Amino acid sequence: MSTRHFLSLLDLAPQTLQDLLARAIELKKWLRADKAHTPLAQKTLAMVFDKSSTRTRVSFETGMIQLGGQALFLSPRDTQFGRGEPIEDSARVLSRMVDAVLIRTYEHANVETFAAHSSVPVINGLTDRYHPCQLLADMQTWLEHRGSIRGATVAWVGDGNNMCHSYINAARQFDFQLNIACPEKYSPKAYVLEPAGDRIRLMGEAAAAVDGADLVVTDVWASMGQEQEADERLDVFKAYQVSESLMALASKDALFMHCLPAHRDEEVTEAVLNGPQSVVWDEAENRLHAQKALLEMLMG
Ligand code: CP
Ligand code: NVA
Repeated sequence: MSTRHFLSLLDLAPQTLQDLLARAIELKKWLRADKAHTPLAQKTLAMVFDKSSTRTRVSFETGMIQLGGQALFLSPRDTQFGRGEPIEDSARVLSRMVDAVLIRTYEHANVETFAAHSSVPVINGLTDRYHPCQLLADMQTWLEHRGSIRGATVAWVGDGNNMCHSYINAARQFDFQLNIACPEKYSPKAYVLEPAGDRIRLMGEAAAAVDGADLVVTDVWASMGQEQEADERLDVFKAYQVSESLMALASKDALFMHCLPAHRDEEVTEAVLNGPQSVVWDEAENRLHAQKALLEMLMG
């Protein structure tokens, strides 16, 4: 059998994703009940980070420890990754030492190249194109609060970025309607959008996308690697802030999600972020549980 990777949500069948979320909820219960579960004893996860991270790093590292294994943090500053060793060579070498590799980097093509030369599972910890691990946590959070997301309406407000792309893939895999409000210049890429067909509606205005929505989601206006565009983006995205008045247009029991870190009073107001509809702290915690289910599935 060929090595199983998790580079995008499309790498797992819809039923596998559902099973994984059910397992995440079970592992969360076990952890709360202090029940030890160590199927990954003697196993090592290498974690390559070309970009900063708090949640992804801590959740994978803690997850590996809880599952009985270990995680190695590799930064480009003090490994050969930052000195131009070919990705193919790094993939072959790490494959001979560790049992899985997590990569957070810029170009998505680099994780694909790594995976093509790796004999152990490769997990995408965020690229400029996708952030699939975050969607596992978001979908777990929805499931815990509201049950099945099938047929629900989700509104994405803001940049058509890596998170937006992963929401588009989630709409396909979990079968929900996704309304996207974003300035035209910052629309999601056509190669992600088009295969999703009529599950996605592109709308210029935030109010139109949020109208009657069951879940409202946003993310920073300038992602990692776009720091030099931040000022210009502040201006363009002003009309896309998720505020209490925008949330009032959504369904009355709508939830609010944000992958974090959040920029208060830019893409979301403090009142919404810490308001009664926000589930961002559950969402952050669920990174741990959902990824433990993923690690167990790929490495167990
Ligand atoms: N949401 C998320 O991936 O956070 P980090 O950048 O802190 O890992
Ligand atoms: N879109 C953001 C997500 C951070 C978790 C970024 O790529 O910086």
